[in-house]
Amino acid sequence: ITVTAALPYANGPVHLGHLAGAYLPADFYVRWRRLRGDDVIFICGSDEHGVPITIRARKEGISPQELVDRNHALIRDTFDRFGISFDHYGRTSDPLHHETASEMFSDLLQKGAFTEEVTEQFYDEEAGQFLADRYIIGTCPVCANPNAYGDQCEKCGSTLSPQELKEPRSALSGNPPVLRPTKNWYLPLDRLQNEFLNQYINSRDNWKTNVLGQCRSWLNEGLRPRAMTRDLDWGVKVPVAGEDGKVLYVWFEAPIGYISITRRLKPANWQEYWTGDAELIHFIGKDNIVFHCIIFPAMLHLYDHGFVVPKQVPANEFLNLEGEKISTSRNCAVSLHEYMDELPDREDE
Ligand code: MF3
Ligand code: ZN
Repeated sequence: ITVTAALPYANGPVHLGHLAGAYLPADFYVRWRRLRGDDVIFICGSDEHGVPITIRARKEGISPQELVDRNHALIRDTFDRFGISFDHYGRTSDPLHHETASEMFSDLLQKGAFTEEVTEQFYDEEAGQFLADRYIIGTCPVCANPNAYGDQCEKCGSTLSPQELKEPRSALSGNPPVLRPTKNWYLPLDRLQNEFLNQYINSRDNWKTNVLGQCRSWLNEGLRPRAMTRDLDWGVKVPVAGEDGKVLYVWFEAPIGYISITRRLKPANWQEYWTGDAELIHFIGKDNIVFHCIIFPAMLHLYDHGFVVPKQVPANEFLNLEGEKISTSRNCAVSLHEYMDELPDREDE
């Protein structure tokens, strides 16, 4: 039995909401299965790639690696202080993770599992790189906030795409970005919906209603192909010759972290926990449902190496604090290491 708790994002500390929603329920569950005498492993680790980490590192004037090194150590030690009983707490900057994720991508590519698409993306000519949505700043078309991001306006809350911004500029050089064509690899979720996902989701009759509800609404709207590679230089490099400056989409490679961390824990027999009659159980928060219930199962299905797909995905709603949504960026959160620092007696009990 492989029980996972969502790999926390290493751009900041973990807070009470994370603990209540995912890590504590997972820990209860695993302890119960151990008491029953089941052969269970409890897997977690830091999710260390993705655009927000590059943005945070740039703001602090350090490298992304320095940022994740610091946060990985903090998060790992915090879980330890709370007594969360992971069998292994790994990280996605581990070379074994890079190798595992690359191999899976190459295998899928070779099978023809991806489609290739060329799209126009914003590019900063001075910085010499493509710009993720968050790296494009401009005037919000809804409320005229001059500092809206390419994915969202933080003033009025509108979800945006970079093309909608007025007078867009690059967060790197401040110059107006230009559109450039770029090729990326897509997971054809539209095709997979008929081939596998409708049947998979519709047969999960013991999943929680909040989880099934979200899955069904995605399926009802009709799934669309989703890019599995990005023009970015922080992450797992796309293992294709001549494709420099591209990495695997963080939501493609992070769930593979569950596999690579199992390999770290059980180098000799890790396959036993992923194939045959293995049970795979993912504890997550509700913002992770689509990735664990739709995209990751689709990847495992296409991979076709006898891996099991998730059997149960207990996802919780968000914990509120004094009636407000917990948010690290708005400084409305109780981070777990500070909780421990201020209540030192708790640690010894
Ligand atoms: N880092 C993500 C989050 O904090 C969770 C990643 S879970 C994994 O929401 F499956 F991708 F590993
Ligand atoms: Zn706005």
